[in-house]
Amino acid sequence: MRRIEPAGAVVGHIAVPGDKSISHRAVLLGAVAEGETRVEGFGRSADTEATVAAARALGAQVEEEDVDRLVLRGRGLRGLAEPRGPIDCGNAGTLLRLACGLLAGQEGRRYELTGDASLAARPMERVAEPLRGMGARVETTQGGAPVTVEGVASLRAIDCRLPVASAQVKSAVLLAGLSAAGRTTVVEPAPTRDHTELLLESAGARVRRRPTSVSVERAERLALGRVEVPGDFSAAAPFVVAATLLSGSELTIHGVGLNPRRTGLLDVLERMGARIAVYNRRRLGREPVGDLEVRSAPLVATTVTPSEVPLLIDELPLLALAAGFARGETVVRGVGELRTKESDRVESVTTALRAVGVRIASAGDRFRVRGVPSRPRGGGVDAAGDHRIAMLGAVAGLVSREGVELDDPDVVGVSFPGFFDVLATIARRG
Ligand code: S3P
Repeated sequence: MRRIEPAGAVVGHIAVPGDKSISHRAVLLGAVAEGETRVEGFGRSADTEATVAAARALGAQVEEEDVDRLVLRGRGLRGLAEPRGPIDCGNAGTLLRLACGLLAGQEGRRYELTGDASLAARPMERVAEPLRGMGARVETTQGGAPVTVEGVASLRAIDCRLPVASAQVKSAVLLAGLSAAGRTTVVEPAPTRDHTELLLESAGARVRRRPTSVSVERAERLALGRVEVPGDFSAAAPFVVAATLLSGSELTIHGVGLNPRRTGLLDVLERMGARIAVYNRRRLGREPVGDLEVRSAPLVATTVTPSEVPLLIDELPLLALAAGFARGETVVRGVGELRTKESDRVESVTTALRAVGVRIASAGDRFRVRGVPSRPRGGGVDAAGDHRIAMLGAVAGLVSREGVELDDPDVVGVSFPGFFDVLATIARRG
């Protein structure tokens, strides 16, 4: 248990760990690239450490030069080894799903991918099915993990239309597409994060991108060289919301990834009245980056549509908290995918926010939040094994009147081990 005291404001300059999605991808692609791949700004966390361990188990060499600097020696696209035992993906859905795609074309080798109880309960048929359509041999356990992949020599390119907007499923199909004869195309119901596509382009793969579809052709070799990982927008988001809600706040977050497929929260908060400025826009590789300067602002309610949801999928819990302060009723439609995350986040967000006094209701795939421009009371929040709920509970504590007693706070280490230290440096007593 950890007690989060109410804060008067959040003030200062911070940086956040490297992007988790990009860190996973850089390590997985580094494992199949030719020669050396240097990953700088690697976002070290329990999830990404599982990916480093997986890369090693698959025969790649990974040297850890520093906490955030790795040097990988890859095995070539179809040269991954068969590990001695199962690959433990821990809590990391991105690792498990992307690995299925990468392993599908490793001829003659067999892999078992396991994870913790949360991961075992998450849907894996959504990845296995399209991969089977390519000729891959992928078996799930009652739809979830453990998942076994038996690598085959010849995968077929497919045109597939995904029923759900999922960057993980899209990425798995594209990675398998690198070993399939012909051109593999994935059509998404709505655009999702495109880090895989951007890294594959950097690595020399033939990628064709359109607003809602992407194609990749069979490749013989990838070479990444150097990957500079931007700060994780999803790790910056709790602080963006805290600074917006606490009057008198002035917070700068340096070097944050601003890929437009990730920053839906900024667009939604801005239309609610938030004051967020972006400075020092630049690129790291193909990824846009900038410094965010956030000042507090009164908010008004808004409506979020299903096509916006993938652009802020991991930030929806925080948006629901912000909506609790926005004058009027905020409706977020199309949040059904949240039920498949590290917890059923439709339920866990509703339970956590109600417990602190936010007037939120959920039904089916919708949230409704009645906002009032004053602080909620506070109370007890159980993160229950979900890192994003732990960070939500912490921000709720800062912006509450009486604080929050947070159960299972250490689960933040899944994506952001230093979260509470950063929080302590910026929180000013009221
Ligand atoms: C991720 C994609 C999203 C997101 C997850 C990371 C990725 O999941 O929620 O935290 O790195 O591709 P889905 O693809 O299942 O929507």
